[in-house]
Amino acid sequence: MNSFDLPRIERDADLAAIEFHARIGSTNTRAVELAQRPDLPSPLLVLADEQFAGRGRGTNQWWAGSGGLTFSLVIRPDAAAFPRRNWPLVSLTTALSVAQVLESRVPHAAVRIKWPNDVYVNGRKICGILVETSGNRAERLILGIGLNVNNSLSSAPIELQSIATALIDVAARPFDRTEILIAVLQRLQQLLRTLAGETWPLADAWRQRCYLQGRTVQLDSSGRLTTGVCQGIDDEGALLLLTDGGVQRCLGGVVSRIL
Ligand code: BTN
Repeated sequence: MNSFDLPRIERDADLAAIEFHARIGSTNTRAVELAQRPDLPSPLLVLADEQFAGRGRGTNQWWAGSGGLTFSLVIRPDAAAFPRRNWPLVSLTTALSVAQVLESRVPHAAVRIKWPNDVYVNGRKICGILVETSGNRAERLILGIGLNVNNSLSSAPIELQSIATALIDVAARPFDRTEILIAVLQRLQQLLRTLAGETWPLADAWRQRCYLQGRTVQLDSSGRLTTGVCQGIDDEGALLLLTDGGVQRCLGGVVSRIL
């Protein structure tokens, strides 16, 4: 598989700096280190040709075979002028940017956002997003994105093969990772700018793509389990669950089961 066209990324992706690694454990771990720097250029891209110890939410790991797209974007929300109360929307916004790029590349596929931060294609996970803050410099955000592009699931661990997918598996042809990366970065930065406002013009866009809509799900919020039928996502990015006690707005947590 070809590596990346770095001059093209520099030219087209509207970044302040790029750090490229032919091989690295985790771009998020490296991005968290870089985010400690007082003179951090923003946005900063940490990009890997190959990532061998990718981290996911909680104790999850992220598998990325050769040809996957794994990167982290370090941003300073203060510089982007969006207030802290909008930070919880960053995961959904990132997922939406990936979803919109995928929709234009595989127009016949069903592209959905699994609240708050996964993207599914035809019922299988294609992209995972890990949003982190950096220790003592909490005013920086690290957006880690793993997107299966040319890393066909046929070479993945067996337990992933039936639950995940890659663009090459959906379209039966390879994609230019540089082109996909630039498209995601452009769209992401465009959508993040909307978080500076008082209203959320993206609410309809993530509702239309809600993978959990109408499904009975179990949400784990720091060990507290809530089971309910998903009624969608509200304007502020909360998952709405119809439980025995009525509709609950869930702002955090992990969907631990789809029943
Ligand atoms: C999840 O599905 O739980 C989130 C997975 C996030 C994976 C990406 S790959 C690039 C970045 N670096 C990491 O170590 N993790 C994120």
